[in-house]
This record gives sequence, C-alpha cells and structure tokens, in this order.
Amino acid sequence: MAVIRVDDIAHVRFSAPDLAAMRGFLDDFGIIPFESGGRLYGKGRDGRPFLHVTQPGPARFLAVGLRARSLADLETLAASEGVAVEPLDAPGGGHIVRLTDPDGHGVEIVAGQANDPPALLAPAVLHNDAETKQRLRAVVALAPGPAHVCRIGHAVLKVRDFRTSEAWYKQRFGFLTSDEVEAAPDVPLGAFMRCDRGDLPADHHTLFLAQLPGPIGLLHAAFEVASLDDLMLGHQHLKARQREAAWGVGRHIMGSQVFDYWKDPFGNELEHWTDGDLFTAADPPRRMPMQALLAVQWGAPHPMFAGKRPPPPGLVAFVFSLFLRLKRLFSRQTKGMSA
Ligand SMILES: [Fe+2]
Repeated sequence: MAVIRVDDIAHVRFSAPDLAAMRGFLDDFGIIPFESGGRLYGKGRDGRPFLHVTQPGPARFLAVGLRARSLADLETLAASEGVAVEPLDAPGGGHIVRLTDPDGHGVEIVAGQANDPPALLAPAVLHNDAETKQRLRAVVALAPGPAHVCRIGHAVLKVRDFRTSEAWYKQRFGFLTSDEVEAAPDVPLGAFMRCDRGDLPADHHTLFLAQLPGPIGLLHAAFEVASLDDLMLGHQHLKARQREAAWGVGRHIMGSQVFDYWKDPFGNELEHWTDGDLFTAADPPRRMPMQALLAVQWGAPHPMFAGKRPPPPGLVAFVFSLFLRLKRLFSRQTKGMSA
C-alpha cells in the first residue's frame, strides 16, 4: 500500500547560467515564459501556474515535481518521511514536500496551487479520412508559429538500479507499471509507470525509470501539445529557429504517442507529444523487449540507428554483461534440471 497516490507530474526544475537563453528556447518550444523572484518559469495552456522552472546556476537538472491530490496527502507523506510541509514560494502558491530519491534526484511533491482558467486553443481541425468525412465546406488554414504546449506529461529518469528506484517511487506515490522493458527475458532495465487514478484514465506514463549506461539524471521531460498539426507546426518553427533536433517526428510503440524531441541550449532534452494512450488502474502491466523502446511504429528512426548519434559509451559492455548474466543463469538452471 503506497503512502499516497499522486495525480500527475507537476513540473521539472533546472538551473542554468543564462536565463535569457532558456527564455528564448521556451518561446520557440511553445511554453509561455515569465520571470518571478529571480527565477524563470514556464507555463502551459492548462491554467496551472508553471510546468518548467529555471533558477540561476550551473546548467543541470534539479528536480521533478509531482502533484498530490490534497494538502492532507502532503501531510501524510511528510509525516511518513519525517520532513516538513513547507509553503511553496512560487507563482500559484500552495505547499511542497521536498524529497531526494535513491539517486539524488530532487522530488518535489506539491498541492494546493492556485490555477488560472485554461487558455482557449484554436478550434481543432476536423479530419477527412477515407471512411469518415468530418470537414465539409471548410478549408484547413493553419497559422505558422510555435506549438501550443498545454501541459507537462512525463519525465524519464536514468537511475543506477531500476528495482531500487521502482520500489522507492511506487511505495511513496502509488505508481502502476504500464510497460516493463526487458533487455532480455526476466532482465528488466526499466518501466513506464502511470498514476493510479482508479477508474479515471491516466497517461500511459508519467514517469519512466531506466537503468542505462552513462551518467544518471533526466533523459527528457515531455509536454503535450494541442494536436498533430500543432506538433508539426512546432517542428517546423523550431527547425526554422535553428534549434537542435534530437529525434522525431515519429509514433512510439509504448505509449503510442506521436513524439518530437529537441534539446534546449543547455543540453536538456524536451519532447513535444500528442495522441498518447490512457489507461485506468484496471489495465494490467505488459512486458516489452528493449527493441520496442527505440523502434517506431512510423517516422524517424532513433538517431543511434540512423548513424547520426553514436551509442552511449558503455552500451555494448552493458548489453554484453546482461547476456553473460543470463547465460550463467541459464546454465545453472539447466544443471539443476539435469541433476
Ligand atoms: Fe517521452
């Protein structure tokens, strides 16, 4: 039984030496930037006070924010952890509990923030497919410009030991596994985890914990945009602004979302996505092979496969060591069976 069940991701927090450079990127990425109390905040169109924070300092990822359902839940969590509930000194106010996960990532659980009404988006374009004609006597007339980021959807953390981190996050926040990813049968390297909202649908993943070679930290944070057209317009805009593309456009296998990854000026990777899967607490977890992580249903192959980005240092050794472990396990089992 988890201490509390979080409702969603709230924000990601970074530090960077040049807030103006970050602000320029947020503008191009379609997050609405504003400054308050010496920090740079980024807002979506969902009315929440912020989903991206940058404070002055060396370029690094600092924390992921999660949203508790109530102040009472925050108090339960704080009591269980032996820490205090603090007032949240940020736009929207509210309260916060600050924790540190097993890898030293900051985890900021918030509740009671004041929201604005959601911003109005342009009316959705009706689509005509072969069987269903929805748009009659009307044209498509899209306005060029940045995508419209509506909300933050998930964060991907690279961890030292997947099972340790999985237990830490599940015990405290009630995450459910949507897809566990295996390097080989019974050798897990991570899991896509969603919030437990009971009968209410939740994004296929709010958190993905991955045990991969290379330094630990944030692999990427992902933001839901208004629609597929919006995502493509955003792609075109970021390209015209000569921002650094990381991977996309394509449709993922796990989560099914259409994705488009970009790098901010400090090397942090941010994703635009749309049309992802939603599940309730009743949907069972799946086991998926590692290949499904970087393969696509359609679209751009991962840059590593396309030869545009070399494999991370240690990947070959990592995979090789997993297979050695498996081989030893298999030979022990075989000996055990024949004895
Ligand atoms: Fe993602």
